[in-house]
Amino acid sequence: MSPGAPAAGAPEGPVLVVDFGAQYAQLIARRVREAHVYSEIVPHTVTAGQLAARRPSGIILSGGPKSVNETPAPSIDPAIYDMAIPILGICYGAQLLTQQLGGEVARTGRGEYGRTPLTVLGRSPLFFDWPDDSEVWMSHGDAITAVPAGFVATASSPDAPVAALHHADRAIYGVQFHPEVVHTERGRDLLERFLYDVCRCPPSWTHTSIIESQVAAVRAQVGASPVLCALSGGVDSAVAAALVHKAIGDQLTCVYVDTGLMRAQESEQVEETFRRQFHVDLVHVKAADRFFEALVGVTDPEAKRKIIGELFIRIFEEVARDLVVEPDPDAPVEEGGTAEPSGYLVQGTLYPDVIESGSDSAATIKSHHNVGGLPDDLAFDLVEPLRLLFKDEVRAVGEELGLPHEIVWRQPFPGPGLAVRIVGEVTPERAGILRAADAIVVEEVRRAGLYRDLWQSFAVLPAVRTVGVMGDGRTYAYPIVIRAVTSDDAMTADWARLPYDLLERLSSRIINEVEGVNRVALDITSKPPGTIEWE
Ligand code: XMP
Repeated sequence: MSPGAPAAGAPEGPVLVVDFGAQYAQLIARRVREAHVYSEIVPHTVTAGQLAARRPSGIILSGGPKSVNETPAPSIDPAIYDMAIPILGICYGAQLLTQQLGGEVARTGRGEYGRTPLTVLGRSPLFFDWPDDSEVWMSHGDAITAVPAGFVATASSPDAPVAALHHADRAIYGVQFHPEVVHTERGRDLLERFLYDVCRCPPSWTHTSIIESQVAAVRAQVGASPVLCALSGGVDSAVAAALVHKAIGDQLTCVYVDTGLMRAQESEQVEETFRRQFHVDLVHVKAADRFFEALVGVTDPEAKRKIIGELFIRIFEEVARDLVVEPDPDAPVEEGGTAEPSGYLVQGTLYPDVIESGSDSAATIKSHHNVGGLPDDLAFDLVEPLRLLFKDEVRAVGEELGLPHEIVWRQPFPGPGLAVRIVGEVTPERAGILRAADAIVVEEVRRAGLYRDLWQSFAVLPAVRTVGVMGDGRTYAYPIVIRAVTSDDAMTADWARLPYDLLERLSSRIINEVEGVNRVALDITSKPPGTIEWE
């Protein structure tokens, strides 16, 4: 999170969402951005001076899991109320501003959770054009029982006498309910009124403006230096590459390492999109043999990951040295020193990674395949054109840049590829079986119209064989396990209730079309206790 300087390409006058330790802040920031206003999340430990330095157009105090009457409870520098910057407190944020400005918040013994009727009591710019009665989403145990001096209550609900309040003269507002959730009927309207009418923000954060500002930022950052990008076939690296290519054209070289553990058609798609459609300088390293050789006899999941990760980095490094590091024989070499940064490396870091890392300046190199751990003498500076963006914005930018739907909407795929779905030894034959089964899963899930609804849906190859009968003969072959989950962020997941007719098609097609498979099973484990991948 970044109380400090704005990130490259960030628009001026952001709406800053103060995080009090729940998931609400991210959702609020996304909603603000959906209204085409740029928004960032800041920690509640930020000082009023740091906030003012960002010259925000508005500040939103988010919800939080605590009670303002607990000690300790997260708070905010009260000097923010005197900065003449519009403030909207939501749920915990409304209670906090009430308490800090001299009102009262008490545990009434009657909380409200879920859909709740709301009655608008008085005029407020936030309730412009609202009906007297509507439905909102509440989630509170405490309630505001007395408004601070200078404030008026503008709405109530059965157990929240002050469900909304605002200062009579200053732009300080609070709502007990959650306008950011879809169950609040007019929630989006309320946020838009705050952004457009109170904060006077223009709705100018559009996908086109994102592309323009990032193109300018990348150009300013890299100058005439060479830039490398490891393409994985996934959404983030593809969009990052397309964006950087738009900015600097031939200065960009993309490296795609085919580990032999990719999904069906993935390599062809990368070739087609980047080389033929975008005319990107693409180095396609066909390294399947090296990966399979390194994996001979390896069955331990962690050992597999380590081998794949290290070999990937070694291969990338070989290509990078050839492409970027051209040692200048006349350059003075410092004793014990390493070479100066020899180029730039594109990383598909997203905004949630930046928030999680807790720092705006520390380069968060995603683990594994995403080219962490390059040797020191290959000192790249990072180019992170997606670091301001949420995943849905990355997808929208990808579409705007003309990337194909299959790439833009592709489900997440782990860095070590199919290897983490092949229990036991990874051989070319077993990878081939899994790839063929996986392609059927993807095809049928797409055909059923469920691909975008599922977080991931794929096939897994266990290390057992079972007896079956096909035609006149006994078979002894592998089962395939179907794994399909719904999730918001992969931290938790539920197994997807796939329709029976889809399961039936999957079972019959996989057994009929994939040689070496005689049984299909379904994984009905949520996360936790399971993980999404099998290894
Ligand atoms: P698990 O299996 O831990 O996976 O529930 C959570 C999410 O992370 C993905 N995943 C990975 N992604 N490198 C990656 O880039 C990895 O090594 C890796 N392992 C798991 C997984 O597909 C799921 O979306």
